[in-house]
Amino acid sequence: MIPLLADVLICPACLPEENELVCQVSLESQDDIVSGTLDCRSCGVQYPISEGVAFLLPPSHDGEETVPSRYETPSLLSSYLWSHYADLCQDPDAHPAYQEWANLMEARPGPFLDAGCAVGRFTFDMSRKYDFAVGIDNSATFVRTARALRMNRGLKVEIAEEGRLTRPFHINLPGDMQPDKIDFIVADVTAIPFPADLFSGLATLNIVDKVPDPLLHLKEMDRVALGSGARLIFSDPFSWTEEAADKALWLGGTGEGPHAGRGAPNVAALLEGRDGHLSPAWEIERQGSVWWKIRNHANHFELIRSCFIKARR
Ligand SMILES: C[S@@+](CC[C@H](N)C(=O)[O-])C[C@H]1O[C@@H](n2cnc3c(N)ncnc32)[C@H](O)[C@@H]1O
Repeated sequence: MIPLLADVLICPACLPEENELVCQVSLESQDDIVSGTLDCRSCGVQYPISEGVAFLLPPSHDGEETVPSRYETPSLLSSYLWSHYADLCQDPDAHPAYQEWANLMEARPGPFLDAGCAVGRFTFDMSRKYDFAVGIDNSATFVRTARALRMNRGLKVEIAEEGRLTRPFHINLPGDMQPDKIDFIVADVTAIPFPADLFSGLATLNIVDKVPDPLLHLKEMDRVALGSGARLIFSDPFSWTEEAADKALWLGGTGEGPHAGRGAPNVAALLEGRDGHLSPAWEIERQGSVWWKIRNHANHFELIRSCFIKARR
């Protein structure tokens, strides 16, 4: 973990109180904290830093599941590595979705937050446009892989081909993606371990329909965004499921309740200040959609229409 993060991280278990964490370093190497702890003097929780990765999940969100998240499995790791990096590997089936989302973001000063970063592609993209980019995800497998990419400027992995067969997949980061301006941590997008009013750029791509409390995720993004001078890229296919969130908490896809109707206009209205959940209100700059592809194996792809909203305040 880059030492400058230790100075800004706060305790996610204490939210909405923002209590700073005290970093105890056990092993440090070349501007990187390899192992240690981040301690909250207020609630007593100690968050480990292990093999360079900080684990900032609040205790109530950590280890309570009996079945591991599907985002920890080798098959999803293979799918997301392809989805994030196939275009950089000149794969003939690649899609330009991450470039299209990146093109919506202008270069700006200040730090960038990629919430639900998976294996890190958009975080690397934003290192070209912001002073620093941090990716957070609650999948330790994804975050460790993103960090390995950052440390080695690339990765040689095997991805699913068919049945038990795999094929080599070699990722080399382009020279202008800047690993020293990036870090990845394990954290929850509904209890973000950063203080209010910090990020000048933020992304929430394809995650609002994956969390147990979608509105809480948007409120957390709103909290950590600058009150003035922030840019946000939101995108989602609105694949609501009761497996991810109770139907009463969906932000669309239902005929009843405060968020009846379709997800895109509801999220746009929330950003614009409906019901006062997000404040100060955001101004919508652009709306549209991007075709996003996930590869399960050589002959099985998912083609997903992800609806984006670009906003500023
Ligand atoms: C559908 S994927 C999208 C990943 C990435 N943003 C993209 O567009 O390629 C959803 C991601 O959210 C992560 N995730 C799900 N729930 C989360 C939570 N509560 N906190 C942090 N990450 C979460 C998963 O591990 C996964 O990487």
